[in-house]
Amino acid sequence: MLSWPPSQETGRKCLSEGDIIVALISVPGPIAAARSASRQWCNEWLARFPDHFASRSATAGLAAVALSKATHIGIDVERIDPRLNCDDDLLNLALDPVERAGMRSPSPEAFTRLWTCKESALKAAGVGLALPAATVHVGWQTCKWTTVGFGLRATSAQVCSLASPPGFAAAIATLGAPRSVRIVTQFTMP
Ligand SMILES: CC(C)(COP(=O)(O)OP(=O)(O)OC[C@H]1O[C@@H](n2cnc3c(N)ncnc32)[C@H](O)[C@@H]1OP(=O)(O)O)[C@@H](O)C(=O)NCCC(=O)NCCS
Repeated sequence: MLSWPPSQETGRKCLSEGDIIVALISVPGPIAAARSASRQWCNEWLARFPDHFASRSATAGLAAVALSKATHIGIDVERIDPRLNCDDDLLNLALDPVERAGMRSPSPEAFTRLWTCKESALKAAGVGLALPAATVHVGWQTCKWTTVGFGLRATSAQVCSLASPPGFAAAIATLGAPRSVRIVTQFTMP
């Protein structure tokens, strides 16, 4: 278990091993509070580890920051809304035809987990939602590293769901080979 923020020594050791360090931070309150925390912590981390790759994400109640020495990364966290209406409009917008065929009526949790994988992959590639999520194939086996292609672009990413607090989904993506991921324990902002 890593302490927060990681010491220079810990950071150097982990990052030289090719790890991605991820912090999932409980931030009670509206999304603005989590967004502000993710920016603050990401900036502090980058100040401590300049020339590294960082990614951040926020949803109401949870902030996330990821850091890697080796390659571009993307992280995404989302609150799972049990009332999410996974209707045809949403599924057509988010899923590719193979994913649609693989699960006709996904639960809000399954859908949100897949969505975080897509968004983290799109962030690792640096394109965000400028590239439609339905053009990116991840599949429903999100608990293991999966290769994601981006159509005509030469780049591909590796993406994997992260263990996350109940009620949230989280995923990490990296350009290049899958990496070990160290998760810093969650805690509440003072
Ligand atoms: C990347 C994106 C999907 C994130 O959406 P989100 O779930 O609302 O926000 P998250 O909290 O998960 O992530 C936000 C962080 O993603 C990062 N980010 C934004 N755009 C990014 C991109 N193209 N590539 C990688 N990272 C990006 C930023 O660090 C941002 O943090 P900040 O708001 O503190 O600056 C979204 O902001 C996006 O696609 N932006 C590009 C604009 C765009 O393409 N619009 C067309 C829509 S059809």
